[in-house]
Amino acid sequence: MRRKLVIGNWKMYTTAATARELTAAVVAGLGDERRVGVALCPPFPYLAAVGDAIRGSAVLLGAQNCHDERQGAFTGEVSAPMLLDLGCRYVIIGHSERRHKLCEHNDFINRKVKAALEVGLTVILCLGETLEEREAGRVAGVLEEQLNQDLLGVKPDALSRLALAYEPVWAIGTGRNATPQQAENVHSFLRMQISGRYGEETGQALPILYGGSVKPDNAASLLQLPNVDGGLIGGASLVADQFLAIVRAAL
Ligand code: 13P
Repeated sequence: MRRKLVIGNWKMYTTAATARELTAAVVAGLGDERRVGVALCPPFPYLAAVGDAIRGSAVLLGAQNCHDERQGAFTGEVSAPMLLDLGCRYVIIGHSERRHKLCEHNDFINRKVKAALEVGLTVILCLGETLEEREAGRVAGVLEEQLNQDLLGVKPDALSRLALAYEPVWAIGTGRNATPQQAENVHSFLRMQISGRYGEETGQALPILYGGSVKPDNAASLLQLPNVDGGLIGGASLVADQFLAIVRAAL
């Protein structure tokens, strides 16, 4: 039985003060609830403060990105060992906003995935098609290609620290979520792909999250699907009550 996971991706939002308030409200609201895994991914400058605020609670820390080198002359970048050092358990890699707005390509994403796995972080690898690709009937092909390239050379023994997040680009921040049928179809396709590459047992154990306009009112219909193992939440993770309602919907 895969434990559900609900992750808040705060993107480039919050201030030092609101990050602290939001974290405190999530920690208090979650209490001892550990049936669902919960993690917060604040912007880099607030990782340490959020890390302090969740200490001893059920909430885990994640980052929104990392570089593929362990250290070096890469102005403005943050490495996977630094994230580990700050107490991160998770790192989001390959988010569509980075793929599309910051021109991140699959070979760079692949190097980051391997670098993060190597230091012991759990990678949330984001995949998803654009509206144009969906309308052209290319969903399976696009996702297969992303998997092929992003997981190139990733060893089977690292798969226990990988989660996928299916985030259709057309559903992110638009208020238009995938229908439960669309999500379930894609998630079972992704699971089949992983089973084909790494074996049935690995495919069955892999957490596959859904992201894209998950809100309290649609969360249960998405997060209770057989192949949906939780959510990667953007906008609604910035409002503690909404985020906590989504966590409850995953129970
Ligand atoms: P929204 O929940 O705001 O649509 O964002 C989803 C997302 O991109 C999470 O990574």
